[in-house]
Amino acid sequence: MAVSLKGRSLLTLADYSPEEIRYLLDLSHQVKKEKREGKILQRFLGKTLALIFEKRSTRTRCAFETAFGEEGGHPVFLSTQDIQLGAKESVEDTARVLGRMFDAIQYRGFKQETVELLAKYAGVPVYNGLTDTDHPTQVLADLMTLEEVFGNLKGLKLVFVGDGRNNMARALMIGCAKMGVHYTIVAPKELYPDNSLRALCASFAEGSGAQIRIGSSAKEELPGADAVYTDVWVSMGEEEKSAERIRLLRPYQVDSNMMAQTGRKDTIFLHCLPAVKGNEVSIEVIEGPQSRVWDEAENRKHTIKALMLATL
Ligand code: CP
Ligand code: NVA
Repeated sequence: MAVSLKGRSLLTLADYSPEEIRYLLDLSHQVKKEKREGKILQRFLGKTLALIFEKRSTRTRCAFETAFGEEGGHPVFLSTQDIQLGAKESVEDTARVLGRMFDAIQYRGFKQETVELLAKYAGVPVYNGLTDTDHPTQVLADLMTLEEVFGNLKGLKLVFVGDGRNNMARALMIGCAKMGVHYTIVAPKELYPDNSLRALCASFAEGSGAQIRIGSSAKEELPGADAVYTDVWVSMGEEEKSAERIRLLRPYQVDSNMMAQTGRKDTIFLHCLPAVKGNEVSIEVIEGPQSRVWDEAENRKHTIKALMLATL
């Protein structure tokens, strides 16, 4: 049966089947090609998109705004400094009002429950633009970037090094488990993801053939990796943990020695960005020939456009 995502929200990739993710990735490659060819298609003409941001953003905001705007749609940026959400109005009421005025809603903020509530009450597609526990649109861009470099996903090995319990480490586990990418987290034991996520992803991995591993030794886990991925040591909203994180994660900086432990010269380096150069990654690696971070950032836009085309 043909895949249709019309009317669907994206709260987490755990809710999407491998076929649905495949469909979004194929569409992402197509819209990137259309953009390169300079096609003007105006597929969101007359449509409106609400962009709620409780946390800062460069890529996610700009990807949603430019992807929607260049197709003729009207995006409206709503920071929580400006709207009533959280201050005077409940999430449910905000969802019902925005759902009457907009064709879709993007939410970036703290709690996964907030984006779930928005989706429950809005009556229009809701997209998770990052919460404390997930970042599904970033993973679509990461998978797209892997495909561009390696031509396929199944059987690739991606190693995430760093804060193994943060939104990126978790979201990548879900996306890789769904799509058959072998996924390893290398982190100090204090920063391992919780068992419930591991159990959930183990069930996805059974269907896709992905192997999911968690360890603390980069030396043991890196050999053969196609991609090494890292993210900031201190995520938005966790600033008070800064000193502890630096202490725990200092030995886990992705530098050229660590990249060399893959035993391959064609391993790529990925990072969702923004990066704190000199903490989780050395300048040499992020600026070096193995880094694909700028393609990865650009792909945020194409994958987000594909998501909106598929669901609107
Ligand atoms: N990767 C990412 O989500 O970047 P922003 O925080 O700039 O949106
Ligand atoms: N883990 C980071 C990701 C930023 C895109 C954060 O939540 O701040």
